[in-house]
Amino acid sequence: MLKANISVLVSGGGTNLQALIDAEKSGIISSGTIGLVVSNKEGAYALERAKNAGIASKTVIKNQLGSQEAFEKELIRVLEEANTDIIVLAGFMSILSADFTNHFKDRIINVHPSLIPSFCGKGFYGLKVHEAALAYGVKVSGATVHFVNEVPDGGKIIMQKAVEIHDGDTPETLQKRIMQEAEWKILPMSCEKVCKEIINNKGFLQGETK
Ligand code: GAR
Repeated sequence: MLKANISVLVSGGGTNLQALIDAEKSGIISSGTIGLVVSNKEGAYALERAKNAGIASKTVIKNQLGSQEAFEKELIRVLEEANTDIIVLAGFMSILSADFTNHFKDRIINVHPSLIPSFCGKGFYGLKVHEAALAYGVKVSGATVHFVNEVPDGGKIIMQKAVEIHDGDTPETLQKRIMQEAEWKILPMSCEKVCKEIINNKGFLQGETK
């Protein structure tokens, strides 16, 4: 069966990567296969998760490459070498330029831990998102999976799921609940949806003869 090649970009613990790995194993993701994990942080636990699952991984570090341009050039090289059809940003904490997002137009998806357009854009990442939601006093937050374009968190929305805020929530408890109830579900589902579209439209970026 034809499958889209999925590459996952990570920076940290990689629980969303784990959700993708588990979803491929259980068949929730059946139209794609994870072939590569790329971290922009040395020693990210996500790299362990890739290793444990037998998935190839690479580390691409901006500081070692000297500039955003060189960093993105190397990212493109490793992604193309892996014949990537779809890039999943799973806790990837680096903003990508328009050059990069245009290079992979409609092929990059991201999970963000709020209901976009709330608490998103530059400076809103990780726990900061949940701190902002609690400080504002919203009663419902959630997660969003969206296509990535040149506007941070500004691309077309693919899926969203709302999560209730509880009295006494801290940024940490809220982060955990949003991951469990929303992110780990809608990221694999969205990934499958986009892989399926790629296959049905025979829109493989790489290896058109697959
Ligand atoms: C997740 O909550 C993800 O939504 C968020 O960082 C966490 C990474 O956790 N991403 C962003 O804030 C991107 N703007 P993980 O490494 O365990 O998947």
